[in-house]
Amino acid sequence: MCGIFAYFGPKDNAGELVLEGLKKLEYRGYDSWGIVCKNEDGETIIEKHVGKISDANELRPELTEKPSHIAIGHSRWATHGGVTEANAHPHTTENMDVTIVHNGILENYLELRKELQEKGHKFTSETDTEVFAHLIEENIDKGLEEAFKLALEKAEGRYALLAITKDENKIVAARRGSPLIVGINKENKEYFIASDIPAFLKHTNNVMYLDDEQMVVLNDGVKFFDLKTDQPIEKRIVEIEWDEQSAEKGNFEYFMLKEITEQKETLARAINQDDDLIREVAQAINGAFGTYIIGCGTAGKVGMVGTYLFSHIAKKHINFMFGSEFGSFLPFMTDKSLMIAISQSGETADTLEAIEEAKKKGVKIVSIVNVESSTMARISDIVIPIKAGPEKAVASTKATTSQIAILELLAYACAGKLDEGKKLLVETASQINDMLNPRYEQYIRKLAEKIKDVESMYIIGKDLNYPMALEAAIKLQEVSYIHAEGFAGGELKHGPIALISEGTPCIALIANDHTKQETLSNAIEVKARGGYIIGVSPQNNENFDFWIKVPDAGMASPIISIIPIQILAYQLAILRENNPDMPRNLAKSVTVK
Ligand code: AGP
Ligand code: GLU
Repeated sequence: MCGIFAYFGPKDNAGELVLEGLKKLEYRGYDSWGIVCKNEDGETIIEKHVGKISDANELRPELTEKPSHIAIGHSRWATHGGVTEANAHPHTTENMDVTIVHNGILENYLELRKELQEKGHKFTSETDTEVFAHLIEENIDKGLEEAFKLALEKAEGRYALLAITKDENKIVAARRGSPLIVGINKENKEYFIASDIPAFLKHTNNVMYLDDEQMVVLNDGVKFFDLKTDQPIEKRIVEIEWDEQSAEKGNFEYFMLKEITEQKETLARAINQDDDLIREVAQAINGAFGTYIIGCGTAGKVGMVGTYLFSHIAKKHINFMFGSEFGSFLPFMTDKSLMIAISQSGETADTLEAIEEAKKKGVKIVSIVNVESSTMARISDIVIPIKAGPEKAVASTKATTSQIAILELLAYACAGKLDEGKKLLVETASQINDMLNPRYEQYIRKLAEKIKDVESMYIIGKDLNYPMALEAAIKLQEVSYIHAEGFAGGELKHGPIALISEGTPCIALIANDHTKQETLSNAIEVKARGGYIIGVSPQNNENFDFWIKVPDAGMASPIISIIPIQILAYQLAILRENNPDMPRNLAKSVTVK
């Protein structure tokens, strides 16, 4: 979690460039933010604030009045220590010798902090991060690079860490498990380091990837080192195809609505895959001794849909487990097992850890990711890109439907019916195109106005739409903050129905298939207890108090039924005056355990 942005180059307004870059990373953390500038007189000046960086228009004059060519910034998602100015990054030492920003968790910080305090170091924050600054300071007489390496040798846990000193004109950075990418504009001799590529796309689309256990030094050029062997590493410059525009809001007030609307095109892009790649993965699934889909949050719900899709389409049993729970199933993984990891960001720590552990057992890893430059993509044996373009709103929308589409393709390919699957998805994409229009949004807004003040709501679905009921609940919780829970329709009568009282909204996701009658009956059971029934289905029904029409999409029904819920969640957020792009307590990618 957290956004990091650094500038090193000839322009003399490094602080302002970092402020601008950091704003593009705000979706990664928005508790507090801070920037350190090193000016031409060698002074390091820090500015920190609690709150969102988007509220900041300019930096304090001290950071901009003298030319500055080096600056680093951080937008925080607090893990250790409350959301205060003192805990905001950058962190520095008593006489500001060393200043750092950090993403991740320094797991052994308590013991290191104690040791350092005994040596006389004075701490000014409650964070784990500050320990890094003092650890580096301990050996700063050996130079920043060496002191930095020595500090990392003591660190346990995941990190992306950047440091500068008063005395040297350089930025040093390293990573283990948290993202950091170097952007390079050769013509202008400029370098950038950021947690995510869109942050520096305005300046360059040439990147160099820093991998785990590697360090990068920016001074009169860029040098990479392997932290384990201490040897220099040659890196390739990779050209990125995303343009700056696709990472901006355009005419939309919020990224969430922009990304929901983009589903008109993103599904078509997801389907437009290299057929050989899909067939290769299908063959691996058919040949594996057990296939395990993993993912967290929404990506996890997509994984659950996968188990239903493979059962219906390919008559295959595929397992699903959340990334954070996967460890319990390691004992029976072998080199004949296959793992399919699903992730938008490709940086989710729980999913990455599951992959790392599975790899140790020889499991073959296929990842379905959006960020092709991510750690997950880089450590997988096969990568299927979903090609949804940058997804910035914390609530996943377009990535979700594209991930489902990929699983559909794989299931059809496993059954030797890839063309049939493609045809269905192409039709679904065109149905989405017709469905996503302002009139549809306005209609759903009417429902949002009716239910915006309720305390709880429930979502039911069966079969393919059961995981979508769970996903609907996540969407509604994340941005509306209304208590929402999803259930398998048939499970209601075994307990949860006791929660229904007069007027409780219950959304029923009803596909036009063999599950229709049963889910309808479940909805009627709720209605009999006073529930307010919102039917999301191709056909209306007299028992619905509110009907949201969706196209009849057969096996692609999960893609179709989640879209109106995404719109509903968005509308509820707006009506309840929540920022849908930056829900409280959350961040876009969860890079901590
Ligand atoms: C989705 O709306 C959530 N923000 C969250 O559950 C997310 O899907 C989860 O953290 C996994 O992220 P990933 O796809 O980047 O791995
Ligand atoms: N653990 C650090 C803190 O709480 C870093 C959190 C982050 O990645 O934003 O400050």
